Amino acid sequence: MKIPNPKQTQFTKKRYNATSVIYNLMEWPVEHLWYKKWRQKLWQQIHGPKVLEIGVGTGKNIPYYPEDIEITGIDLSSGMLKRAHKLLPDHAKDCITLREMDAQQMDFPDNTFDDVVATFVFCSVPDPVLGLKEALRVTKPAGKLYLLEHMKPEQSFLAGIMEKLDAPIHYVTGVHIARQTVANVEKAGWKIEQVRDLTAKGIFKRIEASKPH
Ligand SMILES: C[S@@+](CC[C@H](N)C(=O)[O-])C[C@H]1O[C@@H](n2cnc3c(N)ncnc32)[C@H](O)[C@@H]1O
Repeated sequence: MKIPNPKQTQFTKKRYNATSVIYNLMEWPVEHLWYKKWRQKLWQQIHGPKVLEIGVGTGKNIPYYPEDIEITGIDLSSGMLKRAHKLLPDHAKDCITLREMDAQQMDFPDNTFDDVVATFVFCSVPDPVLGLKEALRVTKPAGKLYLLEHMKPEQSFLAGIMEKLDAPIHYVTGVHIARQTVANVEKAGWKIEQVRDLTAKGIFKRIEASKPH
């Protein structure tokens, strides 16, 4: 098993701890324009009953969690998680658990979860294929992966611009804007079930995949 790169992982953790204070403010425009409705639609499909959310962040998905399922949310950044904790509804505290954990090296046994969800996370996980392999390991056979992600568009002049801007944006924010997440999901061993473009040029996509049995 490949080991996560400690330097890169520490860098990502530091960036998100730093931006956690202003994260919700920074994301406000896209959240209201797009993300809110994409999250709502995605969570309507999740039935678990045992669900893992990777990169729970400040808890933006928590209001959309379905009732009566058991959800474990993990994140690398304690700063982000601190904000997520504030959103936990009192009545759901028994079925939602939040833990500080690296998606590249998870502390769960094999075949634990029915569904794995991540929204705008694999742009930041230092080694996305390693994280997606870990997600596969902890998912039950025939279990599903649901992602909302932004990525490098195919065959577009924008792809070249995004490649050039990737390194400076990553240095400042911890985010990679030119990843090829659909290919990474396949590389990790998932079977792609559906990829849907959510915006023009396919920069934002919803990806559904299953664990082959
Ligand atoms: C862009 S934010 C998205 C947060 C949230 N999912 C949302 O939709 O608003 C990316 C999140 O992924 C987390 N993250 C990055 N690398 C991670 C890793 N290796 N393991 C767990 N979480 C990670 C970051 O700490 C951050 O909270």
